[in-house]
Amino acid sequence: MAESGATLSNLSHEDRTFPPSEEFAAQANATAEWYDRADADREAFWAEQADRLTWSKKWDSVLEWDAPFAKWFVGGQLNVAYNCVDRHVEDGHGDQVAFHWEGEPGDTRTITYADLQREVCRTANALTELGVGKGDRVAIQLPMIPEAAFAMLACARLGALHSVVFGGFSPSALRSRIEDAEAKLLITSDGQYRRGKPAPMKENTDQAVADTPTIEHVLVVKRTETDVPWTEGRDVWWHDIVDRQPDTHEYESFDSEHPLYILYTSGTTGKPKGILHTSGGYLTQAAYTHHVVFDHKPGESVYWCTADIGWVTGHSYIVYGPLANRATSVMYEGTPNTPHEGRHWEIVQKYGVTIYYTAPTLIRTFMKWGKEIPEKYDLSSLRVLGSVGEPINPEAWIWYRENVGRNNCPIVDTWWQTETGAIMISPLPGVTAAKPGSAMRPLPGISAEVVTEEAEPVGPGGGGYLVLDKPWPAMLRGIWGDEERYRETYWSRFAKQGYYFAGDGAKYDDDGAIWLLGRVDDVMNVSGHRISTTEVESALVSHPTVAEAAVVGASDPTTGQGIVAFVILRGGVAQDEAKGADAIKALRDHVSKEIGPIAKPRQIMVVEELPKTRSGKIMRRLLRDVAENREVGDVTTLADSSVMDLISAGLQEGKGDD
Ligand code: PRX
Repeated sequence: MAESGATLSNLSHEDRTFPPSEEFAAQANATAEWYDRADADREAFWAEQADRLTWSKKWDSVLEWDAPFAKWFVGGQLNVAYNCVDRHVEDGHGDQVAFHWEGEPGDTRTITYADLQREVCRTANALTELGVGKGDRVAIQLPMIPEAAFAMLACARLGALHSVVFGGFSPSALRSRIEDAEAKLLITSDGQYRRGKPAPMKENTDQAVADTPTIEHVLVVKRTETDVPWTEGRDVWWHDIVDRQPDTHEYESFDSEHPLYILYTSGTTGKPKGILHTSGGYLTQAAYTHHVVFDHKPGESVYWCTADIGWVTGHSYIVYGPLANRATSVMYEGTPNTPHEGRHWEIVQKYGVTIYYTAPTLIRTFMKWGKEIPEKYDLSSLRVLGSVGEPINPEAWIWYRENVGRNNCPIVDTWWQTETGAIMISPLPGVTAAKPGSAMRPLPGISAEVVTEEAEPVGPGGGGYLVLDKPWPAMLRGIWGDEERYRETYWSRFAKQGYYFAGDGAKYDDDGAIWLLGRVDDVMNVSGHRISTTEVESALVSHPTVAEAAVVGASDPTTGQGIVAFVILRGGVAQDEAKGADAIKALRDHVSKEIGPIAKPRQIMVVEELPKTRSGKIMRRLLRDVAENREVGDVTTLADSSVMDLISAGLQEGKGDD
């Protein structure tokens, strides 16, 4: 029987806690008192954070909330690019490095704040010449090169909205995003490096804009010297137009609620959603969270967020948050194993990185490659480690702490979404006694709850739906051109209470810490128990042979659903032995022991790879197809579409394993 009132069973337990060292706590940017201060007067707290920015006109009121529509710092005016670039130069920090850029083939560029100011001004002048102005939309599909940041900041400077599309997306994905936003300009490159080789880019983007009448020009950065098709009159080389522009540009200030960007995120049904973010509130929260969650010290820290600029993490934590805080960042163009599996650690060592922010999918990949790889490098500069994008399994957290952080760095597991714009739930590294696998509690100024279907708080030990019960500055301001979908997707489930429904399952442990349990669409129902995929996956990863696991519910005549697990083994594990019947039985028993017999997988399959989206999230829908012997559904959003063939082929071979 399901537990009464609660929506998800609370199965796993974690007793380990890791408080910060006294030394770290003593110098931290935020202290425990911040929670009380924010609770006492939320608006005053956020006003204080907004004051870290430079406003050309101060706001009249902090918040106007007409659910589900929020306005923050109403009446205030600012220029986002000025806040990220010019003001630091004016303050005498023009020589400070903004980006240590590292190209995949090993070429490098060093960009100071003064350089950044000149490049952003030139780009803004070039965009003006190409007819881009306030309110226009600019599509950007670029590799991880500095021009991506220049282009975004130039749009912000002009009050134009950028819509960045991840470099790995297909021409049709780019086209639908251009059409939906009615973009006027596309910024792209001749090619991009992918695993050591140049791959064409403009060839693809040309297909995307073959039939998009809103596009007037295509601005092309030369990166790989790849031959490109060319349309006279429409296409313009970046170096031809940008390089000849004056390197100064007079900026205009915009309303706090002026749109800053659109970023498309896939919905459960077909059409991607254009998530809209605006200026003042977004920048306030991006900068505040970057300051307190990473304990960033301007001019001292060397910060590296490994995300791609095509995702929200790249927007908020490569561009806007860090630059507003005058960070010195590493920007890396390539893949983590090009040309070898120690590339990230080599970069950490080379630049003395102090803050490293990455995704669980990559941490588990590092586990698969083995701890011998990071061991070879000097990682002693690291002070804070971050994680984002998925629940981090406790064992992966411990591995990260031991092998990357050398037991010496607080880990911040940061929960947020494209829609939230900035980090919402996370430890504060100088305050929180973190538990491996828990995002802990909402940041000062943020409010979240775990509730039942009936919107009742589940209380300590209970599982349910994660909701955000109060507006926050960086919240999405809507879905581009589709107000109805905005209301329906996020605000209809708990309409009466006015809660934002995040789509994630979560639970409180007995101490009130929050544990994310995966998307509610992925929850399994076994004999009436609602079991989270995350908990079973974490139990599997806590076995010494397993690096990564994906778990799905497959229909079962007796239990409703049966648990089917797909696992990837760790580096150094004898593969044949670990695939044998005894080893599989040991794994099933291990899950049973860790979280209870109800969660014991019906079937476990060892695979080489898991199907993932391009941002690294496991696509359980496809694994459900395999587990239920159905033809595998739409694989177009997979990073590597051959993975499903491999898994299906492996299954045919391994039938009768269990
Ligand atoms: O399910 C949660 C998961 O990622 C979703 C948001 O994805 P996206 O909009 O692509 O943004 C990713 C980067 C912010 C969430 O609904 N997620 C993100 N961070 C965590 C997480 N799940 C558990 N723990 C996290 N730290």
